[in-house]
Amino acid sequence: MRTLSGRMPRRQARVAPSEHEPSGPLLRVEHVRLGYWTARQFTVAVEDVSFDVEAGERIIVIGPSGCGKSTLLKAIAGFIEPAGGLIQMAGRTSLAPGPDRAVVFQEFDQLFPWRSVLSNVAYPLRVNGHRRRAAIAKARQYLELTNLAHAADRYPHQLSGGMKQRVAIARALALDPTLLLMDEPFGSLDAITRQRLQTELNRIVEQTRVTLLFVTHSIEEALVLGDRIVVLGDAPSRVIATVDIRGLGGPETVEYSQMRGRLRELLAVDKEEVEEIGGLE
Ligand SMILES: Nc1ncnc2c1ncn2[C@@H]1O[C@H](COP(=O)(O)OP(=O)(O)OP(=O)(O)O)[C@@H](O)[C@H]1O
Ligand SMILES: [Mg+2]
Repeated sequence: MRTLSGRMPRRQARVAPSEHEPSGPLLRVEHVRLGYWTARQFTVAVEDVSFDVEAGERIIVIGPSGCGKSTLLKAIAGFIEPAGGLIQMAGRTSLAPGPDRAVVFQEFDQLFPWRSVLSNVAYPLRVNGHRRRAAIAKARQYLELTNLAHAADRYPHQLSGGMKQRVAIARALALDPTLLLMDEPFGSLDAITRQRLQTELNRIVEQTRVTLLFVTHSIEEALVLGDRIVVLGDAPSRVIATVDIRGLGGPETVEYSQMRGRLRELLAVDKEEVEEIGGLE
């Protein structure tokens, strides 16, 4: 059953992935400091960020533009090494990129333009050791899940922006990731497509039980998709609040309005700007 907002009823209990010890969190981000070397100078993007993610949770990281959300996601994916602090996945530190943390980016051009939709989803499976027939069967299964079975033989240039993002989601999920990392994947879409894909993502997460870490700067998106919201301040960023929104009703409820108001205050942006960014009202 889905509420008016597209929010799914919250799960009571979740099954932890088998490779993960049930004792600790799936992901631990502890006093992480991140930045970039430019012209022999280290510029800090993320000053001090800490939060945990339990298996099966949907965590939203929200914060103003430039506060280091993408940088944080890249560090969790293993593309950037922390300059300080600790990122631990299922008890393991020093993370190299791997299929246990699949990433969906914001850009529409993350697909291989010379490969069909089916091949885009099957290729990473081949790289990760699946035989051709098994990879294709699995790719088809995830194209079904993302309502793209009819487009399997098309090429990226023949797809809409929303379809491209669904291929990217199918490709990420086909890897059976323990953690699905999404960096503003719907940011460049029109409001209606964005809302549709949010509802679809809720269904897919429910079905696959994947743990979700989703970056956005839209309060509305955070409220539709999240179990908990980690709010980052301006760069170099710190966590300014972690808010649990499980059990929150739809946009028609007082609780929802209050929570939206609280997040607006935390992010200290004016109402018009938030509505423009969120684009869902
Ligand atoms: N490859 C890079 N080299 C140097 N500086 C970088 C690099 N990537 C990002 N930065 C800087 O790090 C800071 C954080 O950038 P980041 O992309 O993580 O922000 P963000 O929160 O994702 O912003 P947005 O919401 O606009 O996507 C910014 O000041 C940015 O200029
Ligand atoms: Mg970003």
